[in-house]
Amino acid sequence: MQQRTKLAFWWLCWMLWLPARADDGMWLPNLIKALNEQDMQERGLRLTAEDIYSVNRSSLKDAILQFGRGCSGAVVSPNGLLLTNYHCAFSYLQRHSTVDNNFIEKGFWARSLEEEIANPGLTVTFIIRIEDVTERVLESVSPDMGEEEREAKIKETSSRIAAEAVENTDYKASVEPFYYGNEFYLFVKQEFTDVRLVGAPPSSIGQFGGETDNWEWPRHTGDFALFRIYAGPENEPANFSQANVPYEPRYYLPVSLQGYKEGDFTMVMGFPGRSQQFLTSYALKQLTEKINPHRIALRGKRLEVMENVMQRNDTVRLKYAAKYAGIANYWKKWQGETRGLQRFDAVTRKQEMEAEFTLWAQADLQRRLPYGTLLPQFERDYAALDSLILAFEYMREAAFAPEIMVFARNFDPYIVDVRELDKKEDKKKGKARQDQAIERLKSTTANHFRNYSRAIDQATLAVCLEAYARDIPPAFHPPLFEKIKAQYGNNFRAFANEVFKESVCASPEKVARFIERPYKKQVQILQHDPAYQLSREFMLLYRQHILPNYVALNAQLELNTRRYVAGLREMFQDSLLAPDANSTLRIAYGTVEGYRPRNGVIYTYQTTLEGILEKGDPNVPEFTVPDTLAKLYREKDYGRYGVDGTMPVAFIASNHTVGGNSGSPVINADGHLIGLNFDRVWEGTMSDFTYDPEQCRNISVDVRYILFIIDKVAGATHLIDEMTVIE
Ligand code: ARG
Ligand code: ASP
Repeated sequence: MQQRTKLAFWWLCWMLWLPARADDGMWLPNLIKALNEQDMQERGLRLTAEDIYSVNRSSLKDAILQFGRGCSGAVVSPNGLLLTNYHCAFSYLQRHSTVDNNFIEKGFWARSLEEEIANPGLTVTFIIRIEDVTERVLESVSPDMGEEEREAKIKETSSRIAAEAVENTDYKASVEPFYYGNEFYLFVKQEFTDVRLVGAPPSSIGQFGGETDNWEWPRHTGDFALFRIYAGPENEPANFSQANVPYEPRYYLPVSLQGYKEGDFTMVMGFPGRSQQFLTSYALKQLTEKINPHRIALRGKRLEVMENVMQRNDTVRLKYAAKYAGIANYWKKWQGETRGLQRFDAVTRKQEMEAEFTLWAQADLQRRLPYGTLLPQFERDYAALDSLILAFEYMREAAFAPEIMVFARNFDPYIVDVRELDKKEDKKKGKARQDQAIERLKSTTANHFRNYSRAIDQATLAVCLEAYARDIPPAFHPPLFEKIKAQYGNNFRAFANEVFKESVCASPEKVARFIERPYKKQVQILQHDPAYQLSREFMLLYRQHILPNYVALNAQLELNTRRYVAGLREMFQDSLLAPDANSTLRIAYGTVEGYRPRNGVIYTYQTTLEGILEKGDPNVPEFTVPDTLAKLYREKDYGRYGVDGTMPVAFIASNHTVGGNSGSPVINADGHLIGLNFDRVWEGTMSDFTYDPEQCRNISVDVRYILFIIDKVAGATHLIDEMTVIE
């Protein structure tokens, strides 16, 4: 490196906390050997890269799984028993619960294999191997290709590589872009579909602290649940069948009761969903100043609406628990994220780095062309996006936030399908299609109304439309807004009331009657149906006036990000820049450590059962301590799980994690399970964009607390007997 860039480099390391501390980064397991092994060992790891990832023998990666689409988990017994988070299991628990037999309230423990409950639709995915296929993919494109052609070629080559990789096997495969299309990796996977619920604590443990404690430290949530993977007679993936048997994993994690102390090495293996570490200052500014404040306000309004109804009605409270938690989760996350980015001065730091980048690019003739004008281009494109971005966000957060608006979309394909019946030349086929369309509509209708409150949805519609009309320029208003103005004087409550009175989408009975009508009548009904029409108008608006520009701008941004990231990697060629998370298997590593959230405050790295009693409040549902737990505390009955008269509950460490890492095992220097990741601390929720080693901590539930609950609260020692427990 030239002297000048060298200086800039060290300065930037400091600015970005680059490799000065490598806590940041979610790394590819197959590259650990080349990139991280030495660093990990220097920080205390006593394993080799081969122990973590190998294609020739069993390794840690064989115990790590993606749970459903959005969570992670780990196998902990030779009989396919797996650990993931309570919040990842929540919707399944809810599905199996009734008001009279409420697993959320009481917890659930299968006493034998026969009692384990199937979960149709739930999958568990393992990674068989990962391979760098960059060369093969990029061979198929040339620099003079247009973006569209390039995209198409890459897609075609990727599918071919993936198909070849799984020929004559029951594996699945995909090729994923890394560094925004500068590299490509093949993932060969094995997916299991018979995954049964084994055990979960009551929500007073699994969700202790609820929304109040969510994204916060100190934390006391027993956020875990157990499932079991079942396989066919050859240990192969098989759809649910009574004949299936517990899956024998290639590897399972031993569980350690040895604990950890401050400064100990830890690593997290799992499937982080998405991070955007390379975003420019323009993007971050737009995010913190424009997008997030609107998202937060919209969700705040919807939560208020839900709370009002849920407070008054127990049945609704049960039905809306998961929906509420889902909306509240990112509502709170975005607040922490904005705060964290602003406190870290992320925009200024990025601006300074961008100025350096441009200098670096201009300094060399070879670099000037590909990189020299990238930043002004970003600036221009984000400015263009600015006029569009709120309309885009409001589609999801306002227009299609009311459930009825989403449900109304189901009538579109129905109408198209049913029309087939009119085709005289093929009456039989037409009839079959109509039957299918009706069946589909019936089942989506049943799903939609299963956990539904008309009171909530109607009030949500009113507040969402009101916000949309107020915050989004008229150019993006659906034509129906004219009518709401003329007929209702923009009284959105009155309009929402009318919608629910008139629309066929408002109740299952109305849908059932609709289905019975003759086709011509159905078309007529929908033509005058306010929910269907509004939802259709929003969709058309989105497709015609928002999406095309958005897609075009995004394509431009993506192309430039690919160049920008290539430039950054060239500029920082002596250091490692981890690829952004993209739902593929990753390893993050760091140490157990506390942090200083605010001036004058120090947070320690661990919480104990004592804190649960401290927070306990019988009058607040989120903080109600179950009697059994209080009794165990009084009697200090911690068995082999306690330490010196205390019972560890949760801990924090500097592992770089993001959404999707929930349920990821936290592993010690010897490869043993010490905890389950489930959250991040409030001050560090911006780690999707910028990792601040001083403030970013992942929160995990201590595996000793998990075993303590399984043993002493649930009395399910047979599950612990399956595990390899290291005393
Ligand atoms: N914040 C954690 C995560 O993003 C836990 C979420 C559990 N949901 C909730 N609303 N409390 O998944
Ligand atoms: N709770 C998150 C998850 O579900 C983890 C996080 O965002 O830190 O993956």
